[in-house]
Amino acid sequence: MATPEREIPTPRVAEGDWARVFSHHAFTPILERAEGIYLYDTEGNRYIDASGGPIALNVGHSDPRVTEAISRQAEKFAYCHPALSNRLRADVCARIAGLAPGDLNTTYLVSGGSEAVDTAIKIARQYHLACGREQKHKVIGTWDSYHGMTLGALSVAGGPGFRKPFLPMLFDWPHIRHYRGPRERPRGMNEVDFALECARELEEMIYFVGPEQVSAFIATPVGAGKDYGLVPPAEYWQTIREICDRYDVLLIADEVVTGFGRTGKWFAMEHFGAQADIMTTAKGISGLYAPMGAVTVSDRVNEPFANGEIFIHGFTNMGHPLACAASLAVLDILEKDHLIENSATTGEYLHSNSKRFLARQTIAEARGKGLLMVLELVRDKETMDYFAPEARAEEKFQGIALKNGLAFYMSLYGPRRPGALKRGMPLYIAPPLSITRDQIDDLLDRLDQTLAEWEQTMGI
Ligand SMILES: Cc1ncc(COP(=O)(O)O)c(C=O)c1O
Repeated sequence: MATPEREIPTPRVAEGDWARVFSHHAFTPILERAEGIYLYDTEGNRYIDASGGPIALNVGHSDPRVTEAISRQAEKFAYCHPALSNRLRADVCARIAGLAPGDLNTTYLVSGGSEAVDTAIKIARQYHLACGREQKHKVIGTWDSYHGMTLGALSVAGGPGFRKPFLPMLFDWPHIRHYRGPRERPRGMNEVDFALECARELEEMIYFVGPEQVSAFIATPVGAGKDYGLVPPAEYWQTIREICDRYDVLLIADEVVTGFGRTGKWFAMEHFGAQADIMTTAKGISGLYAPMGAVTVSDRVNEPFANGEIFIHGFTNMGHPLACAASLAVLDILEKDHLIENSATTGEYLHSNSKRFLARQTIAEARGKGLLMVLELVRDKETMDYFAPEARAEEKFQGIALKNGLAFYMSLYGPRRPGALKRGMPLYIAPPLSITRDQIDDLLDRLDQTLAEWEQTMGI
């Protein structure tokens, strides 16, 4: 691995024009250009985009097939007046219908994940109203989950770090624990029984809240928050599905991260043989070439709206023509370049390297599926202690990783969590789905080097 000797990048000091950027947290390198899995800064340093931006870049950077599609569309029209039909919107919705599982056939386009989640919550409410179930309005979420930053998304999310400042402004809706994984499984209990026990928490919560009030349950398919990437047995989701059906509760699968190939299938719920009633997607759908989000609903949920019910909602930028052009090109690439298959096979190769990281005292867990691998960083995996916030462990990790040619997406999980929860900081390995085995090897070598230097810096 040829790593040029260079100083460790630090967070940028807010001075000059940078002081005019509200609440800016980036490190010093300035992005100049990006291509494939690589980012290049203005000093000519190259970085592997190891987390695919915020686990979102499903095709590589600067693919001319996408940039040309966007500019071709911009030359025709960049925005469509609301009085006229936007053909591209129908094209994208039809493409999603062809790819989405089961009868998830109708899509409402938005501009991102948070908007998609808020939209899903409102579709669920209006669906129940149309069905005469007027009391149903509460959405059950999972603790420590992330569903975005709008007030609706924060209400169903469960990460205290994100919610606390805004608590008085959020809906006081219930949360359960997501599937908790092998670490919390009681001794002697098998995996499936434990998964069923976790799933039954939903039925208990519906009972206590009152089924007549519960509109929907929302969760991410492969773990929530600190446990992101934890893959439950299929029985977990199948049982959740049954419980939702029993109480007329809609199941919302938030596939903003997992949708469009990240876990080796088009959508992560396909691993479990359970179909959601509403699916939220964003990120990978346009590979971040333009802001795009989508809410795809089943035929049952669509029925009242197909029969004339008007959905009371809308955004100026929904189904924006340039985002639609980008998404159509991205979906073409995902299919033509077989990137979903590459996510499955190269992902398997990635996960076959887990042991190499688990040998370290600072890696407590390696989990995930496809090209989503989550390593859980701790101070000591025997005690499952994490570093105190003053130790600035994430900042040091990111700086060393950048020096070694890796750009990671750093989450706020870890440093803000009380030690009692015994969880570390998730590190997301989620590169563009076009990554090759050789590039994975390079990424992992650089990560090994980064971990060794970071451990030394942290006094381990
Ligand atoms: C599962 C999930 N849902 C929703 C969102 C919000 O998406 P956005 O940042 O596009 O609003 C995110 C963002 O990371 C996410 O991970």
